[in-house]
Amino acid sequence: MRTIRRATAQAHPNIAFIKYWGNRDDQLRLPANPSLSMNLGALRTVTTVTFLEEEGPDALILNGILVEGPARDRVEAFLNHVRRMAGFRGRAVVESNTDIPAGVGLASSAAAFAALAVAAATALELALSERELSILARLGSGSACRSVPPGFVEWVAGDRHEDSYAYSIAPPEHWALWDVIAIVSEQHKAVGSSEGHRRAATSPLHTSRVATAPDRIARCREAIQRRDFESLTEIVETDAIWMHAVMMTSRPPLFYWEPATLMVLQAVRRWRDEGLPVAFTLDAGPNVHVLCPVEVADEVMRRLQKVPGVQRVLSSGPGGGARRIWNS
Ligand code: DP6
Repeated sequence: MRTIRRATAQAHPNIAFIKYWGNRDDQLRLPANPSLSMNLGALRTVTTVTFLEEEGPDALILNGILVEGPARDRVEAFLNHVRRMAGFRGRAVVESNTDIPAGVGLASSAAAFAALAVAAATALELALSERELSILARLGSGSACRSVPPGFVEWVAGDRHEDSYAYSIAPPEHWALWDVIAIVSEQHKAVGSSEGHRRAATSPLHTSRVATAPDRIARCREAIQRRDFESLTEIVETDAIWMHAVMMTSRPPLFYWEPATLMVLQAVRRWRDEGLPVAFTLDAGPNVHVLCPVEVADEVMRRLQKVPGVQRVLSSGPGGGARRIWNS
């Protein structure tokens, strides 16, 4: 009989073009609206899960450091779902390595829980489909369900646990769309996404954002299918600003922007007026994601590096889905 069950998996973070903000069910992470994103192939998290026979608290080692507190508790709560599904009770050791800065609005939890879902399900020999893995990953972090399928991905909101999943609308090769990320702060944000989701419904702008999201999803999907950057720009920027307007008008309000955030947004608009194809979006943080066709990505990078307040610039094209690397 096997005494050690171990598997390693990798996943990329994703950048949402139509945002997930607010839940209908916080426990199950059933989102208020559908969302749509692109995986970021240049950034990744690699996670090894080892299940032991003995019962006890799980251990989390992140980039070589033993982590205690809420991050470990969240991993253990997630693994409890996997253990329940597999009928297994042993504790787990989770070792995760990532090149994604945590807590700065770069979807580190998306890659983390997508990789963890695949590694844990593989280690306990649960034969789950891509759809089932995305449903599982969603329980750890909503946006993680979108890091399970490859390329350009839509998360169907659903109204029950089994119906809220993500699927690929186009593979990564479909469109060489680049995300050039202007990092203006690497400080861990004071209020995380999970708390933000709970506050969303206190904003008077939440209902209208949610009601109009399906229309933006349809137009965004079409823009991606046609590789229509101009249409994508309009939809993506509208959606990001609407989400931040919801954040700013929640009670208590959430304000993620820094002065340099606005400098970048204004620069992007100026460059577009000059003829450069660029579009901005932001997650729950001050850093700005500048989308552009790959042909101008180096130019966008050069320009962003010169904007006052930009500390460093990352760049990525579309990436694949979460996948098992190894198991024993
Ligand atoms: C602004 O998926 O990080 O990035 O489910 O609480 O882990 P939890 O929230 P999370 O929220 C992501 C919010 C966002 C928009 C998006 O990625 O769609």
